[in-house]
Amino acid sequence: MHAPIDGLRIAYTDQGHGLPPLLFVHGFPLSRGAWQRQIEAFGSTHRVVAPDPRGLGESEASEGPTSMARFADDLERLLRQLGTGPVVLVGHSMGGYVALAFQDRHPGLLRGLVLVGTRAGADAPEAAAKRRATAERVRREGTSSVVDDMAPKMLTAGGQDQLGQVRAMMQSASPAGVAGALLGMAERPDATPRLGRIGVPTLVITGAEDTVIPPSESEVLARSIPGADLEVIPRAGHLVAFEQAEAFNDRLAAWLRRLPAD
Ligand code: MLT
Repeated sequence: MHAPIDGLRIAYTDQGHGLPPLLFVHGFPLSRGAWQRQIEAFGSTHRVVAPDPRGLGESEASEGPTSMARFADDLERLLRQLGTGPVVLVGHSMGGYVALAFQDRHPGLLRGLVLVGTRAGADAPEAAAKRRATAERVRREGTSSVVDDMAPKMLTAGGQDQLGQVRAMMQSASPAGVAGALLGMAERPDATPRLGRIGVPTLVITGAEDTVIPPSESEVLARSIPGADLEVIPRAGHLVAFEQAEAFNDRLAAWLRRLPAD
């Protein structure tokens, strides 16, 4: 399915029934296929919405940097078009940066937060400079240059048999979309000072073997958000929900059952 958002064709999946609706926002530079195993598992108990944020997957790109705020505002428009009401937002990595921007900008649409393999801090200057250089390279050489670098890091050494699927999910992103997301991540503000004011139930999940955003970062995140729960999934790398889908889904389902009634 596609929705017109800010003049762009934004691709999304919307299936199932049941409250609260779950909004799955994938990481960089993936596509909503990264949530396939969650869409299948939760589509029988919840309404599940999974977009490709602009410039990634099957969604059209805009020119220039895509700030986390812009991604968040696109989500808000999508939810309003779909009439979902407040959602539990499950954001992986860059999707987690977007989730924290969404929490700041659209708190009325948030029923809970699930922050997966992500962090609240901004890029250090060297990391931001590296992203800007990568954005230049992607514009010159295409999406493959970033796929070659990123895809193997998504999985543990034991999970590399799934590398082909991960590469395919990344390859669909347009160079303009990949560059826009890189520039947006490079300029994202530090969300740490706001963590103590997050007022919705929050679950932090990480893969025990995540080398992109190590579990220590998730521990800090969980400690900084009032009442947040932390789940560490064994034998999982950065793309924990894909690599260890069953364990991930079990922990998420248990947490959803514990959510206080509205
Ligand atoms: C992601 O998986 O979304 C990225 O690794 C996030 C990042 O590069 O900071």
